Amino acid sequence: MESKFKVFGHGAHPILIVFPLGLLSTSVIFDVIYFVTGDGQFSVVSYWMIISGVVGGIVAAVPGFVDWLAIPKGTRAKRVGLLHAVGNDIVLLLFAISWWMRRGNPPEYRPDTIAFLLSAIAFLLALVTGWLGGELVERLGMAVHDGAHLDAPNTLSGRPARERDSK
Ligand code: HEM
Repeated sequence: MESKFKVFGHGAHPILIVFPLGLLSTSVIFDVIYFVTGDGQFSVVSYWMIISGVVGGIVAAVPGFVDWLAIPKGTRAKRVGLLHAVGNDIVLLLFAISWWMRRGNPPEYRPDTIAFLLSAIAFLLALVTGWLGGELVERLGMAVHDGAHLDAPNTLSGRPARERDSK
């Protein structure tokens, strides 16, 4: 099923999700380095990565929601999409709370154990919701052009992926 929210012919959601996925997962790595080294510069980087990742996730969620709305009711894709969406909303909320707890410790915004645990739990949940996203695309065909095949013409050509009477 083709995406309803495209940029240059490709689904906007799969393009934008690199920001929350990349920034939020790397913030947890920087937290671990901070706890190992005690060096506050890593917690500063993590602090700004979290808020950028949360904002990126909210922006990415918009085209994801548009695509989800277009999925026919009663399909597995609708159910998997809902699980994926709600799960990712919880991921963003946990990271946002973790960020909020750090705001009180400028200039290095050192996370305490609770703030770190919230990020770590959100990271583990994002592994599951990310897999559900992959299931939506690779197994359920979301955001894949109708008739897609290995020799399909360029998306920007305006021609359908599978021309009529082509095998
Ligand atoms: C932090 C927020 C989110 C992240 C990190 C995320 C991540 C992903 C990933 C990794 C995929 C698979 C992409 C691929 O394999 O190319 C995906 C697909 C998808 N996600 Fe999300 N997602 C997020 C939020 C949402 C929300 C809130 C919704 C719906 C309300 C949603 C709906 C979808 C849909 C429908 C797809 C299938 C592909 C498409 O139609 O664009 N996602 N998402």
